[in-house]
Formats: sequence, structure tokens, C-alpha cells
Amino acid sequence: MLAFSLPFFSVLLLFTTTAQPYNATDRFFLDCGSSSTTSDHPRWNSDQNSNSVPSNIITTSFPSTPFQPDPSVSGILPYTSARIFNASSFTYTFPVYQGPKFLRLHFCPATYSDLNPEQSLFTVTSNGFTLLTNFSAFLTAFYLNRKSFVKEFVIYVTDAQILNVTFTPSPNSYAFINGIEIVSMPESLYFSGGSLKYVGQNTGPVIDSKAALENIYRLNMGGGYISGTDDTGMYRSWEQDTGYIHGAAIGWTPVYDPKKPIIYTMETPDYTAPELVYRTQRSMGNQSDRYNLTWILPVDSGFFYKLRLHFCNIISQYTERGQVVFKIFINNQTADEEIDLFHLSRDSGYPVYKDYLVFIDDPDGRRGKQDLWVAMHPNPNSEKYRDAYLNGLEAFKLSMDSSLASPNPEYSREYPQPRAASPVIQNTKKTMAYGPVIGGVGGGLVLLTVLVLVVFLRSRVESLPLGRCRRFSLKEMKVATCEFDDRCVIGKGGFGKVYKGYIDNAKTVVAIKRLNSASKQGFREFRAEIGFLSKLRHVQLVSLIGYCDDEGEMILVYDYMPNGTLRENLYKNNNPPLSWKRRLHICIGAAKGLQYLHTGANRAIIHRDVKSTNILLDKNWVAKLSDFGLSKLGPKDRTQNHVSTMVKGTIGYLDPEYYRRKQLTEKSDVYSFGVVLLEVLCARPVINLGLPDEEVSLAELGKSCYRKGTLHQIIDLNLSGEIAPRCLMKFGEVAYSCLKEEGIARPTMDDVIWGLEFALQLQEHAEKSGGMVGEAMLEYQQLSFIMQAEPATTDEHALLGSTGMAKRHDTSSTDTFTEISQLTGR
Ligand SMILES: *[C@@H]1O[C@H](CO)[C@@H](O)[C@H](O)[C@H]1NC(C)=O
Ligand SMILES: *[C@@H]1O[C@H](CO)[C@@H](O)[C@H](O)[C@H]1NC(C)=O
Ligand SMILES: *[C@@H]1O[C@H](CO)[C@@H](O)[C@H](O)[C@H]1NC(C)=O
Ligand SMILES: *[C@@H]1O[C@H](CO)[C@@H](O)[C@H](O)[C@H]1NC(C)=O
Ligand SMILES: *[C@@H]1O[C@H](CO)[C@@H](O)[C@H](O)[C@H]1NC(C)=O
Ligand SMILES: *[C@@H]1O[C@H](CO)[C@@H](O)[C@H](O)[C@H]1NC(C)=O
Ligand SMILES: *[C@@H]1O[C@H](CO)[C@@H](O)[C@H](O)[C@H]1NC(C)=O
Repeated sequence: MLAFSLPFFSVLLLFTTTAQPYNATDRFFLDCGSSSTTSDHPRWNSDQNSNSVPSNIITTSFPSTPFQPDPSVSGILPYTSARIFNASSFTYTFPVYQGPKFLRLHFCPATYSDLNPEQSLFTVTSNGFTLLTNFSAFLTAFYLNRKSFVKEFVIYVTDAQILNVTFTPSPNSYAFINGIEIVSMPESLYFSGGSLKYVGQNTGPVIDSKAALENIYRLNMGGGYISGTDDTGMYRSWEQDTGYIHGAAIGWTPVYDPKKPIIYTMETPDYTAPELVYRTQRSMGNQSDRYNLTWILPVDSGFFYKLRLHFCNIISQYTERGQVVFKIFINNQTADEEIDLFHLSRDSGYPVYKDYLVFIDDPDGRRGKQDLWVAMHPNPNSEKYRDAYLNGLEAFKLSMDSSLASPNPEYSREYPQPRAASPVIQNTKKTMAYGPVIGGVGGGLVLLTVLVLVVFLRSRVESLPLGRCRRFSLKEMKVATCEFDDRCVIGKGGFGKVYKGYIDNAKTVVAIKRLNSASKQGFREFRAEIGFLSKLRHVQLVSLIGYCDDEGEMILVYDYMPNGTLRENLYKNNNPPLSWKRRLHICIGAAKGLQYLHTGANRAIIHRDVKSTNILLDKNWVAKLSDFGLSKLGPKDRTQNHVSTMVKGTIGYLDPEYYRRKQLTEKSDVYSFGVVLLEVLCARPVINLGLPDEEVSLAELGKSCYRKGTLHQIIDLNLSGEIAPRCLMKFGEVAYSCLKEEGIARPTMDDVIWGLEFALQLQEHAEKSGGMVGEAMLEYQQLSFIMQAEPATTDEHALLGSTGMAKRHDTSSTDTFTEISQLTGR
């Protein structure tokens, strides 16, 4: 049954023969939901009249076709139709021989029969294994950034000789499937006891008929994509490895002399992998001592993984044992100390594979994604050449307790922080979080470690060069945005357009801001933004991932913020209104970002364009300050408190004092922030309230209402009854103090944070003690009345404390570009 392998003495024969593909004994290609007449494709058959479906198919399912199929899948089988199950479980049954089978499930999430693709959640089981639970094909496709995808499983069919596949919709949901593929495989391909090595443990599960596998990756190192039809008879497809290589050190990609044969053996039979896999490789090249050749593969945590590494020497200089010896690391642990292809095989052109088993820990119990690291490095004992290479890689997830299911990927993933330098704040927090866990063992030591880590991380951030962020090519930007397709536009401004894009093999969602060449806000702002943002890392600031300046383009790449700007959440009617507490948290977050700018470095940074459009919200509604194009460094000497400069900013938010005196201080940001606080409370445009004969700014209106004790009359209607009177009181007080005419009378951002946090506490207290809604507004009026009776100084200083810094000195205007380098010291 199996394709036979040739013994060594018949090697010559192979010079003229190509590898014999495996002849599958079982093959089923069901094009689900297609009608029998249209499906005359050689490979795919309609499921409707097949023997695999139950007799009650008409009542338990219905066929459908995708509404407006994406061009990338239209007309491609099996994605032109689907079978939908909305009532109960549905089982396909396939008579097959005993032995291991590939089970491939083809999904193309789309709108079928008016059903929302996001609402499809279901479970798939097969022969006692749970393959998927509460599975969302929609979220999976989003994560993979593909319109269609295949889930490949390996199931060992026992002597019952039946393979059944059951789809069960989750409650109030529906299941669907586009295609089911079943192909048998040689018994020993993946299930042989062979040379399995455990990494990081002495023993582990045995891979036998009681285990099910799921193929997670199948990569052709240094070569191109290999489609299922070019596989060795089992329809496996092999992907390029380029998207998974860590860092810039990608080595080089030798190709085997096409006239020379790949020679399969007893140990590596010809069905193992196609010749194309072995004819290309990724090798380290002559810089090999400087780095590890590393691939990073995101996998689901809490499972064992079997990795199959395919090797074949194809470099003609390497001819004998001992010349090239290398090490393999899996998840930073040594998986193999010495790999020498001339030890493992006879000669060049002889393929070899090695299997490893590794467990991916799930420390937080959430079964989320984790990175699996596969790396290689020359062994120092390598006699002649320092090199290491890999031709192919397959990764399989092993079932645990008969299940392979993991949670759905999250809808919008945050950009993983750049590996080179994580934000100081976040790292500190993380380290602290482990503190209590290991604290019992040696608190002092832990504290010391934390301190050392903090110092280390800080010093790393400090020493970063200016151009720390990534530089993208224009081609990468075009791929990310489908050639700057207007359908990807998520925002527009005077500068140009902002696109939603996908980078790193479509794994990372980003916001791409492309400067319009006709833009008035030009090069200077672009440079300022890179200059500031590449230096600053804070949870409350948007992260700049990189930029592109190819061919005169000016493009900036940021973390994608799925919840958009604060402004659109306040004003646009199609967004559900933000709750009052969420608004408070957003204000506190944004205030912390500003505080960091003002005091985090040894020179203050003045944002100069604080407004609700420049406060972005991530998927957890964490506020992030953005747009540093107008930002300015504060005076060199902290005893001076302003820089003189041309007035820039946005009408309605602009500090009147700055406007008059052309002197910029941190307090100008505080003023603008006060306007934002009013927007958050009132959800109105900052100027031009639309009153017939009146054009009044929100700042003036807010201040006047505050003084009269009528602030509650202009509150956003969406918040009616939600705000506790004392909270409103405090909030109004903070906003009012920010909007004082004289900068010196305004609070610092420290004071603002304090005041807002207090307001939040008042709100929470009122909610806990109940009864906050009832006579709320009456109480507010009474409260504000009491307050008005008190002397102005109480109003200004009781809450806000000393505002410090009274001296004023003139300095000449400072230049962002020359002085930016002085920012780093803290
Ligand atoms: C594959 O096997 C089938 C029957 O098992 C046989 O009819 C067919 O000729 C075989 N194909 C090849 C290429 O050996
Ligand atoms: C399933 O969908 C069909 C066709 O849309 C519909 O007639 C039927 O009522 C649905 N059944 C359930 C349980 O939702
Ligand atoms: C599916 O197959 C398994 C094992 O062959 C069997 O135990 C089970 O009853 C089958 N389920 C259905 C719904 O046919
Ligand atoms: C490394 O290889 C490259 C390309 O093959 C070659 O240009 C370079 O001179 C080599 N460097 C050393 C130090 O051998
Ligand atoms: C391996 O080490 C790198 C740093 O050298 C680290 O970033 C990565 O998280 C480690 N991977 C694992 C799985 O421990
Ligand atoms: C390569 O990886 C191993 C294991 O993670 C590590 O110990 C070693 O320091 C790395 N070497 C280089 C040069 O990065
Ligand atoms: C099912 O998956 C969806 C989407 O990931 C998730 O929101 C929901 O909580 C899950 N339900 C269960 C019961 O796990």
C-alpha cells in the first residue's frame, strides 16, 4: 500500500525518476451545500446526494451560497457554497479503512442566507475527539486575515472503520461548513514511535491511536508556497517561512543544484515531504556566530506540540562529517546539541527529519496564544564551517483529554509591544505582579530583582537611538493597505488619510497615517512626531511602530485603536454612548498621559494640541494620547517655565493666555484638557453651539454654568441620572480650575489626576450607597450654592493644592529637532 523506498544500491535509478507519491486509499472531497448538478469538478463532489449525510438532511440543514463573496474566493471550490446547521447536531459519516486520516475542514465565513457571520459559534467533534468548541470561523479568519482557511486534523480510525464528523451549533447560533476533505496517510508518517525527543521534560505523551493531532504550521524554509496538489499525494500545503522569522537576521536561502537528485531512504520515505521542501533551505551564512536563526510561531497554550524539522544538506562545500555541526533550541531550551547532516545521512541530497515534543505552558490559565521559539546556532565544535540550516518544519498540536479546542482569537489584537524595548511602565508592573507570588520565598531578593530590572529597563530605554522605530518599505505599506485602497480609510485630516492595515504577514493590525503630498502640515510635523514618539513609551500614549519615507512618502505606522477617538464616541450617534464611569476612566487615563509628558523626562514636553480627536481608545477603552506633530520641548532649565513660540493649536481648545502672550507652558495643555473635560460631560462641539445669534465656546459656556450652579443643565442627555451630584461637583470644579484665565492659577496635571480620581471615588461611593439618582439635581444645586458662598481661594486651592512655579523668564524659541536628543535622560 505504501510507496516503497529504494535501498541505497539502487540510487542511480533515481536520477531519472521523481518521488513516487503516496496513493491514498481513502479520499473524500465533499463540497458542502453545493447541488449535485454543478459539482462536476474532478476533485470535489456535492455532499447532498453522497452517502455521508444523514437521511434527514433536508430538515436538519440547508444549503446556501455566500452573499457578495470576496473576489479572492469567488468561484473557488469548496468556497462557493456552504451547508448551514441551525437546528440541531448534524453528522457526516465516512466509511474508511483503519489507520490515520487527514480530516480537513474548509471554512469561508460570509453572510449566508442573511445570517450574521459573527453569530456563528459551534462545536465540531469526530470519533470521540473534540476538535473545536464554541468555534468562530469569523474570528479565526479575522485573526489569520484570510477570507477562507482550512483546519487540518489527524484522526486515527480504529477497527470500527468509520470516521464521523459532527457539527453542533451553540445555543442561539448556527454552524456551517464549506468543505470536508478526508485523505488517508501512511501509517508510519506521523504515528511512528521513532526518534521523538522531549524538550524540557524527560517523558511526555505517546503519539498513538488514542491521540488526535492538529496541524498548526507546515513551512517550506527558504522556498515558495507548495500547494496541496504538489504534495506527495496527501494534499498538504506548505507555506513560506518568511513571515515567521524573528528579527532582521534572516540568513540566506541556498537552492540545490537542479541537476542533482533528492534521494529518499528507508528512514525518510518519498512520501515524507515533497522534493521542493528539501531543495530549498534557510541557512545562516557567514555571520552565523552573531545571531540565532529564529522562527517565532504563535500557538495555543496548555498543549503539547510535536515539531518535525526537515533537513537536507544542499550546500556543495559541505561534504563530510564534523564540518558543519549545529544546535537546535526550542523555546530557548537546547533540543539538540549536535546536528550533523553527514552523521544523520549519507551525503548531500539525502533528506532527514527529526521530531521533538514540547509543552507550551499556560501560566495564566486563559489558554491564549503564546510564541513558540525555534532557533538554531552553530555548535562551537563545528570543525570547518560555522553554519546551521533548516529545510522544512511541521508543527502539530496534540489532543489533551481528547480535545484540541482552544478559545477563539480575540477580535482586535493589540500590537505586541516591540520586542527590543518594552514600555518601562508595563514591564515594571509585570515584574511587580510576580512579586507577591514568589514573595514568600524571599521578599528581599524579589524586591532587589525588581529594582535591578527597573533600572535595567530604564537604562535600555534611555540608550535607544533616535531611529529606534521600524522603517518600512513602501512595498510593505502597499501590501498592508491593498495599495492604499479607500476602503481601508479609517480617518482623514489636513495631513491626509489614515488607513487600517495589516503587517507582519497580516498578523498585526495597524493604523497607517499617510501624509498627503499637498498637505500644509508637512515634513516638520512628521519629523517631530517620529522624534517624540520613538522616544516615549507609556501606556497612556499611542505607540509608534514605525515609519516609511521611501520615494518621498511620509507614512507613520501606529498601534491600531479599535475604539477610535474620544470625539467620535462622544458625538457620533451611531456609537453607543459611553457610560459616565468609563468617561471618568478615560479622562484619568488621558490626564496621566499628559502628566507623563510634562514631568516624565528631564525636560517637559508640551503637547500643544490636546483635544478629544487626539485621545484614542484601545480595545479596553484605555485612553492613549496621540498626534505629537505640534509638540514642543519645555525650557531646558526647569526654573524657567515657558518657551516663546508661534501660536499653534486648535481653535476652541487654545489657551487664551498663550494666544495673547505667545508664551507656551504646560498650563496651556491644562487649559485644553479642561475643554476636553467639558466635552466629556456635555458632548457638544467646542465652539458654535448652534444657538441662533450666539457663537460661544464650550469653555465659556461651561465656566458660566459652573459659576451659576447650572452645570447639570448642559450635561449630555445620554448621561441623565447617571452622575452622582457630588461627583459632578468635583468634576466641574476640576474642569473649571483648568480653564482659569491665568495659567499660573491652573492646576498641574498631578492635581488634575488627583481631583478626577476623587470624583470617581465619589461616584462609586454614591453608587454603592444607592439612591443617587432621585433628587440628584436638586442636591447638585444645593451643593453648588454652598460652594459659591465660600471664598474663591477655597474653590481654587482646597482641591488643587499649590500650583507652584510662578517665575517667568523669556527664552528664545527652541527647536524640536536639535533638542530632541536631550529628551532621553530621566
Ligand atoms: C492507486 O490505487 C488505486 C486503487 O487502490 C488504483 O486503482 C490506482 O491505479 C493507484 N494509482 C497509482 C498511481 O498507483
Ligand atoms: C433555520 O433556518 C431556516 C431557513 O432560514 C428557518 O426556516 C428555520 O426556522 C431555522 N431554524 C431555527 C431553529 O432557527
Ligand atoms: C461516531 O463514531 C464513533 C466511533 O466510531 C462512535 O462511537 C459514535 O457513536 C459515532 N457517532 C455518530 C453520531 O455516529
Ligand atoms: C559573507 O558572504 C557574503 C556573500 O556571500 C560576502 O559578500 C562576504 O564577503 C562574506 N563575508 C565574510 C566575512 O566572509
Ligand atoms: C526566549 O528568549 C527571548 C529573549 O532571548 C524571550 O524574549 C522569549 O520570550 C523566550 N521565549 C520563551 C518561550 O521563553
Ligand atoms: C541563542 O539561543 C539560545 C537559547 O535561547 C541562547 O542561550 C543563546 O544565548 C542565543 N545566542 C545568541 C547569539 O543569541
Ligand atoms: C464563545 O466565543 C465567543 C467569541 O470568542 C465568546 O465571546 C463567548 O464568551 C464564548 N462562549 C463561551 C461559552 O465560551
